[in-house]
Amino acid sequence: MLILGIESSCDETSAAVVEDGRRILSNVVASQDEIHRPYGGVVPELASRQHLTQIGPVVDGALTRAGVGLEAIDAVAVTKGPGLIGSLLVGLSFAKSIAFARDVPLLAVDHLEGHIQAAYIESPEPIGHPAISLVVSGGHTSMFLMKDASSYELLGKTRDDAAGEAYDKVAKRLGLGYPGGPILDRLAALGDANVHSFTVPRFSDGSEDFSFSGLKSAVLRAVQRGPIERLGEDEAPEAAEQRSDICDLAAAFQRTVVRILLMRVEGAAKRFRVRTIIVSGGVAANRELRASFGELGRRLEIPAIFPSIELSTDNAAMIAAAGYAKYQRKEFSDLGLEPDVELRLGEAGPLRRSRRHR
Ligand code: KG4
Ligand code: ZN
Repeated sequence: MLILGIESSCDETSAAVVEDGRRILSNVVASQDEIHRPYGGVVPELASRQHLTQIGPVVDGALTRAGVGLEAIDAVAVTKGPGLIGSLLVGLSFAKSIAFARDVPLLAVDHLEGHIQAAYIESPEPIGHPAISLVVSGGHTSMFLMKDASSYELLGKTRDDAAGEAYDKVAKRLGLGYPGGPILDRLAALGDANVHSFTVPRFSDGSEDFSFSGLKSAVLRAVQRGPIERLGEDEAPEAAEQRSDICDLAAAFQRTVVRILLMRVEGAAKRFRVRTIIVSGGVAANRELRASFGELGRRLEIPAIFPSIELSTDNAAMIAAAGYAKYQRKEFSDLGLEPDVELRLGEAGPLRRSRRHR
């Protein structure tokens, strides 16, 4: 059973061929980082144009690497949202035309569900439930309670910036380049987090939501006030490694991001007595975050699991894997499928609803 996965929700064009929802035969990712780098963030118009030129070669590449032709594909799974409307449309239209031409089922996948299912593809052991699943990426920071592998109840989400967005904006202000996460991750390891102290936000209504804009503003203010100075236009990005002011700020920022995430997950893990903690999404590639969640898992005596670094950032193998579960449940979409830019996963669950009415 072969699924062709297609992902184009933000700034990566990706296609993958996955067998039986688990065995990745190919996973081709065309990154647009170089295109968006001068702007310090994703420019939606440029992203959709680039998806348009990349989608054909990327899908071809995925089939070639898997050693199969289109006639071998049993279904097409595609990201229907959330994401950038123009970007989503390119992948969705391409997926629909393949499903139509080949007369195979079309499977509409939520991008966040894809991130979460990346952990399931790679786990050698069956994952114990209930589980807390944290998705931390450039566009999202959301925490779900999973009673089984395919049920999601949203417990909390960011009220402002996503964690990865805060990384990207701080890096931009420091003149470090895009995407900011991997750069600040590296610099933070060279700095002293105790030089600055940033507060961890708390909500008076007891909500399990997240917030990163206060932290981001505090870091940006520290840069504005000095003595921290952004990297000069003519300096190579590596020059930042010699700058203790930048490294210390990166370390303090990162420690606070990790603390915010850890505090929420620990609270929910205890409240629901979960058997597993799953952390996925681009920011799950962060080394300090992985180490700290690993430690939390040991303290709570439950496994804390992450997809590999390649499957943490946007890719189509995770979409194909999530599509496989839908295929088994016969949750097929028709060719009238439209993109949906909003976050919906787990919103209808009773936990979120009761909280909203408090
Ligand atoms: O999941 P992803 O590829 O795309 C979205 O769905 O948003 O996540 C991209 C985000 C970017 O904000 C990037 O800066 C962040 O993930 N990121 C990291 C690291 N690697 C990528 N953040 C912190 N540490 C990293 N090592
Ligand atoms: Zn993503």
